[in-house]
Amino acid sequence: MIGKLNHVAIATPDLAAAAARYRDVLGADVSAPEDLPDHGVTVIFVNLPNSKIELLAPLGLDSPIAKFLQRNPAGGVHHLCYEVPDIMAAKAKLESAGVRILGSGEPTIGAHGKPVLFLHPKDMGGTLIEIEEA
Ligand code: CO
Repeated sequence: MIGKLNHVAIATPDLAAAAARYRDVLGADVSAPEDLPDHGVTVIFVNLPNSKIELLAPLGLDSPIAKFLQRNPAGGVHHLCYEVPDIMAAKAKLESAGVRILGSGEPTIGAHGKPVLFLHPKDMGGTLIEIEEA
């Protein structure tokens, strides 16, 4: 069912420092920061030949990554995103296997303008998983 690894998201308390590390130390292609108010994050995309890293910093008071940064003040891996060809078919299969979907349970439009769902980390081996229709 799942296809490519679309991205690994890393939450950081200091987006400029994280971007500089990827650009200047690791020599990666790093985008300008982009505010995504609907998602409560500012994101920088690190474009790798085979995937992307998303550097996430909280935006606004109600950011979904604020709690994560309280627990992990230095930042860390926040979620992995896999591509699926049909998000509603994926949702049905996951729910029939007992996997809980976060939020309303319905797809929302993610950072790349595509429908996404987030799966409960307790049902996914302790890792927050995003699936994105590609
Ligand atoms: Co993501």
